[in-house]
Amino acid sequence: MVAMSNIVKVDKWDPDARVMQKAASILKGGGLVAFPTETVYGLGANGLSPDAVKKIFLAKGRPSDNPLILHLAKAGDASLFAEVDDRASRIMAAFWPGPLTVVLRARPNVPAEVTAGLPTVALRVPDHPVALALIGAAGRPIAAPSANRSGRPSPTDAEAVAADLGNKVDLVLDAGHVDIGLESTVIDLTGRKAVLLRPGGTAIERLDAFLKEPLELPDDDSKKRSPGTRHKHYSPTVPVYEWSMGKRLDDSIDPARSGFIGVSPPPAEFARVISFESEEGYARGIFAGFRQLEAEGLSIVAEWPEPPGIGLALRDRIRRASLS
Ligand code: TXA
Ligand code: MG
Repeated sequence: MVAMSNIVKVDKWDPDARVMQKAASILKGGGLVAFPTETVYGLGANGLSPDAVKKIFLAKGRPSDNPLILHLAKAGDASLFAEVDDRASRIMAAFWPGPLTVVLRARPNVPAEVTAGLPTVALRVPDHPVALALIGAAGRPIAAPSANRSGRPSPTDAEAVAADLGNKVDLVLDAGHVDIGLESTVIDLTGRKAVLLRPGGTAIERLDAFLKEPLELPDDDSKKRSPGTRHKHYSPTVPVYEWSMGKRLDDSIDPARSGFIGVSPPPAEFARVISFESEEGYARGIFAGFRQLEAEGLSIVAEWPEPPGIGLALRDRIRRASLS
């Protein structure tokens, strides 16, 4: 783990106003601040400054064709940066603040560095007092991807941010481990039907019920428009294998040199077992678990969960972590 002097602890429910002012002035000056959200930690920059946003791509090693989410303090600000129709505003009223990102047609004031040159922009109001205080103090939207090096598991605590980004970030606001542990659900609202671009912290069953019709699953065309949903991602440096309850462990896996992570009893004697009582717990702990097993030099056997609720997002992250 990298020692860092620029991590500051903040009380999730009562963030110190002076610390938040300092963080806001770093953002206004074009610097980078990592901050907690309810999903994962974000790597934030002034979302209206092309130069500040470019630093995010450099720090993460992120391909420049992958657009960023603009984080807002309140739903009422969305129409400043995007064309918000009636369906979009009803969705925002129902699901924000929360782990849902909506893609809408962008207004011309949104820098091309944020949208990767697309005509659309992704917006979200996070459900975390520190994130909301930071956006409020900065007085502008914060562009932020997850605060990991590109392709790595997302950071669910400040230590993971420090390990991945070290001194590439000016300040890390540390409010402890996040609640949800997987990124927001991303939906595209630019067409007649809402399209799921990335499963995440908001269950698609809730969105389907609200919209009174099922979300469209992404076709190749919308995948092209959301480059972050295409590739191998979320990956530790050790191999990740999927295992489903009731299945035999693949013969090519040596449990003595592997760690198991999941909710069910492990199917063999593993060198390490990280187990959770619920799928919510599994989601919250999976990325830190990946990082722990990686640090121990063990291959990873991850339980393949059932799809309802957070299970669909867990499946997506495990599948993409296991791609080679
Ligand atoms: O929970 C989250 O969403 C976290 C926290 C920090 O808010 N952020 C996050 O950001 O996961 P990132 O950059 O790791 O993922 C953003 C996803 C990517 O898959 C990206 O391709 C997609 O959103 N995206 C962003 N703008 C888009 C756009 N205009 N059209 C389609 N997809 C877009
Ligand atoms: Mg990410």
